[in-house]
Amino acid sequence: MNNLLDIVTEDVEVHRGYIGYKTATEKLVTKLKELEFSEDCKILDVGAGTGLVGEELCKRKFTNLDALDASDALLKEADKKGVYKNFFVDVLGPNKRIQLDNDCYEVVIAVGVFTRNHVKAEGAMDEMARVVRPGGLVSFTIREDVMFEEEYGYEAKMEQLCREEVWKLVSKSEEDYHSKTDIRKCYFYIYQVL
Ligand SMILES: C[S@@+](CC[C@H](N)C(=O)[O-])C[C@H]1O[C@@H](n2cnc3c(N)ncnc32)[C@H](O)[C@@H]1O
Repeated sequence: MNNLLDIVTEDVEVHRGYIGYKTATEKLVTKLKELEFSEDCKILDVGAGTGLVGEELCKRKFTNLDALDASDALLKEADKKGVYKNFFVDVLGPNKRIQLDNDCYEVVIAVGVFTRNHVKAEGAMDEMARVVRPGGLVSFTIREDVMFEEEYGYEAKMEQLCREEVWKLVSKSEEDYHSKTDIRKCYFYIYQVL
């Protein structure tokens, strides 16, 4: 596992120049400070993978972090970073309720999850909003190459959740994602749960 993980990590970080986890985290932290969230606020890193986002949050003093991912093996790698308190192996998807209670986090962040061959909007965005308490924030990247592909349903779902007053848009920005491939940018959304 470690050899394969090392190869994949090297491909993503060295060859593609993956930096989305840094740019998105920086943007979220700026917003958390602007909105006066405590550094102790409870944050769920969805699709935490090996824990890159958790490390970035921790460097910026946000340390009350849990991690959720479909892969137990990746969460075990994330655990080695020593930045998360609780780990949840769970899968986001259509008609799928994840194991967490309503309103149990103040913030969710998902980086690199809404991307090609990964997670579509249906079910996933609904569940991220469900576990965040009213007034809390749901934030995520969507890679630029899949943003407008209807089969992923991102725009339609975001609009539906606005229309149903589940959340409202706080900010949308374009962020650097890869520094060495054609897919350079992602969109980073921050919604406030109503
Ligand atoms: C590209 S990685 C990003 C990891 C990390 N957030 C980062 O920025 O380095 C995507 C992660 O999403 C997880 N994932 C993919 N599909 C998922 C699903 N349906 N539910 C939960 N996690 C999923 C994968 O296991 C993987 O760890």
